[in-house]
Amino acid sequence: MSLPTVTVCRDCCCGSRRKHPDVDHDGQLEALRTGLEGAARVVTSGCLLACEDSNVVVVSPSPGARNGGARPVWLSSVLTDAAVSAIVAWVRAGGPGTAPLPGVFAGLVRQPPALTAVE
Ligand code: FES
Repeated sequence: MSLPTVTVCRDCCCGSRRKHPDVDHDGQLEALRTGLEGAARVVTSGCLLACEDSNVVVVSPSPGARNGGARPVWLSSVLTDAAVSAIVAWVRAGGPGTAPLPGVFAGLVRQPPALTAVE
């Protein structure tokens, strides 16, 4: 498939009401699925080993953008509807390698943990 992939971590910390009681985690996942329908694959994952930065969302480039050198972008602390809306807008514009990273994510990009499987 030639679309970007948005991996939404949902496990012990990301998506947890215990850790983030004021966040509508299910609503945010639904907003990503609805907002990105036809523009990206949206998948959930088990713990991505970056719990200190929950909620973690990884935006992986389309295969074409990846061939052009784009790499997945790891976003930390995706806890607001504004952040979810910015992800939707960015990915609909093409995502990594195609559209510039929205300024709202300045300071929220993190390096993937050494043992991660999401690339
Ligand atoms: S639960 Fe998301 S990084 Fe651990």
